Amino acid sequence: MKKFNIAVVGATGMVGNKFLEVLTERQLPVENYYLFASARSAGKQIDFMGKPHTVIELTEENVMALAGKVDFALFSAGAGTSRDYAPVFVRAGAVVVDNSSQWRMDKDVPLVVPEVNPEDVKWNKGIIANPNCSTIQAVVALKPLYDTFGIKRIVYSTYQAVSGAGVAGYNDLKYGIEGEAPKKFPYPIAYNMLPHIDVFLDNGYTKEEWKMIEETKKILHDQSLRITATTVRVPVFHGHSESINVEFKKPCTKEAVFACLEKFPGLVVMDDVKNNIYPMPILAENHDEVFVGRIRIDESVDSGVNIWCVADNIRKGAATNAVQIVQLLIKNALEA
Ligand code: A2P
Repeated sequence: MKKFNIAVVGATGMVGNKFLEVLTERQLPVENYYLFASARSAGKQIDFMGKPHTVIELTEENVMALAGKVDFALFSAGAGTSRDYAPVFVRAGAVVVDNSSQWRMDKDVPLVVPEVNPEDVKWNKGIIANPNCSTIQAVVALKPLYDTFGIKRIVYSTYQAVSGAGVAGYNDLKYGIEGEAPKKFPYPIAYNMLPHIDVFLDNGYTKEEWKMIEETKKILHDQSLRITATTVRVPVFHGHSESINVEFKKPCTKEAVFACLEKFPGLVVMDDVKNNIYPMPILAENHDEVFVGRIRIDESVDSGVNIWCVADNIRKGAATNAVQIVQLLIKNALEA
């Protein structure tokens, strides 16, 4: 069987570490892994797949030295690094799967969640974008509803974990609980919530809110969707939660909503309120699925529902989704 070579850029970071964990679990047909990070980590040894790997400094020279020897490059080292180095890996012959926001809205770059729009990987021109963590879990829950009932309008309200802000965000909660001043967030996140994720735009929305709105439309291939969002950082280490209110085009029943959610791949319905069963971040941690519950008909519109959606933001929201994209590319290459 053909074997592939994979580079991981940002291998020492929060998502980078999770890339390595998910790759270890899934055992792709890979010959060599190349781990890249900044000059700060260059030369460091990382034990991975049973052998030590030396971290390579991310420079154009080091990437081009591997020209023709890297099939796929998984990136999670910030938007600036993706802007500068994704094209270098493409020149070196790799397909880049980028976790940053840099390329997501580029019309030449597919934005992919494998359960939702796997066919989009086929028109890539060298870069495929991994959506924002909050968008990924939302579209997994929305896709079966979209296909069954048609969607007019979506209202997102999120409750997002600090790990979504990398090691620095995680540490603000960890040490904030002990009274230390925040370094990443503008205010303490311990015992608090911040209605502020990413930068503020001129219209008063945050960039995180804008990403959820625009990325949802791009992934579902529907610019007519009406969507609004409020995104909030909460003092939870792992797992984003979302209240999603959806208004449909066609009539729905609670039973039909349950039925279409229950059979969608990657989605787990956890809804038994009589026994206090509903999704929570502590249940989603370290799982690859998206969990939905608290499913209720929205009586304030002709046809609509409220759902509560939880997923591990570093797994399905980042590393797992990117590795699934690589698995899809490998499958397509082996079938070609
Ligand atoms: P390093 O550990 O060498 O700084 P997180 O946001 O979770 O902290 O992770 C960021 C990841 O991106 C780390 O692996 C970090 O490497 C990497 N990174 C950040 N800036 C650069 C850069 N300019 N070049 C290469 N890697 C970078």
